[in-house]
Amino acid sequence: MTSKHNQLTLLRPDDWHVHFRDGDILDTVVDFTARQFSRGIVMPNLTPPVTDVDNARNYRKRIMDAMSDHYNFEPLMTCYLMDEMNFEEIERGFREGVFFAVKLYPSGATTNSALGVTDITSLYDVFEKMSVIGMPLLVHGETPDPAIDIFDREAFFIDQVLEPLVREFQGLKVVFEHVTTKEGVDFVRSQGERVAATITAHHLVINRSDIFKGGIRPHLYCLPIAKREHHRLALREAATSGHQSFFLGTDTAPHSRNLKESACGCAGIFSAPAALEIYAQVFDEENALDNLESFASINGARFYNLPLNQSSITLKRQPNTVPQYIECSDRSVLIPFLAGESLNWKILE
Ligand code: NCD
Ligand code: ZN
Repeated sequence: MTSKHNQLTLLRPDDWHVHFRDGDILDTVVDFTARQFSRGIVMPNLTPPVTDVDNARNYRKRIMDAMSDHYNFEPLMTCYLMDEMNFEEIERGFREGVFFAVKLYPSGATTNSALGVTDITSLYDVFEKMSVIGMPLLVHGETPDPAIDIFDREAFFIDQVLEPLVREFQGLKVVFEHVTTKEGVDFVRSQGERVAATITAHHLVINRSDIFKGGIRPHLYCLPIAKREHHRLALREAATSGHQSFFLGTDTAPHSRNLKESACGCAGIFSAPAALEIYAQVFDEENALDNLESFASINGARFYNLPLNQSSITLKRQPNTVPQYIECSDRSVLIPFLAGESLNWKILE
């Protein structure tokens, strides 16, 4: 990485947690990710979810078709875990290079997770086999139990589910997706190299008070929900530390404006339009620009045993206004994270 005062060049980054959706939204959003990232792990929570090899292959093709020709972005596909799973199908997808990893959604924890896992212990034989073939498990780390306060669901999940799981399967590679708490960061740090976490841009920027600043702000609602300020500071420390176990995953999760601005608005923050620039701003604020490349371009690839990207990307320090909205081909509208706000960094095209 080279960094002059006003310019920063790093190996092209990867986004290890992306929601592309399907149809018109897919067509609209894919280039925002392809513009700045080289690879991305594509989440399988479509309706119906991606649970077999043919569907994953077809979805991958729709992503490639939706992308502009001049981008080289590589989508890495995931399999949505359900209670009843045919491991042969998962393994075949892995061996054929279609499934890169398996995604665990506790049933009811988030958007399109109804068909997710209700009893994690019923999948212990699957985890055993995944450990043997070296297939990573990506975890949405929240209990869906409505009796647990929404702000405590991650910490509860770590104690009740994640810690026992990681202890039981010492050979399983586990990614704690979109970690949002100090407890989560501490847990990942306490583990060896085979446990890692992604950190979103928005959880580095907002805390839970921001969701209610001057009124309710549906575009800042996501799951896991943003937590108290001391958690945000712990995330900023972890991301900017350069520690090998933390890497970039935006969790960009577009929902049309009418589904967000609603009496029961959807969870998900659409950060793709300015993701890398927002991360750069955070690292700059923390005086940690030297560690941006580890977080964005190196740690994830190393964890997943993938080659580092060959090409690079350059950011310039200059005012950069996030678009107010993005219009989809079906004329619905997406509101990006930090819409209308000015950032200090801009990707040099
Ligand atoms: C995601 C979505 O909309 O698919 N929503 C979110 O708030 N992050 C699902 C998820 O990753 O939890
Ligand atoms: Zn997600």
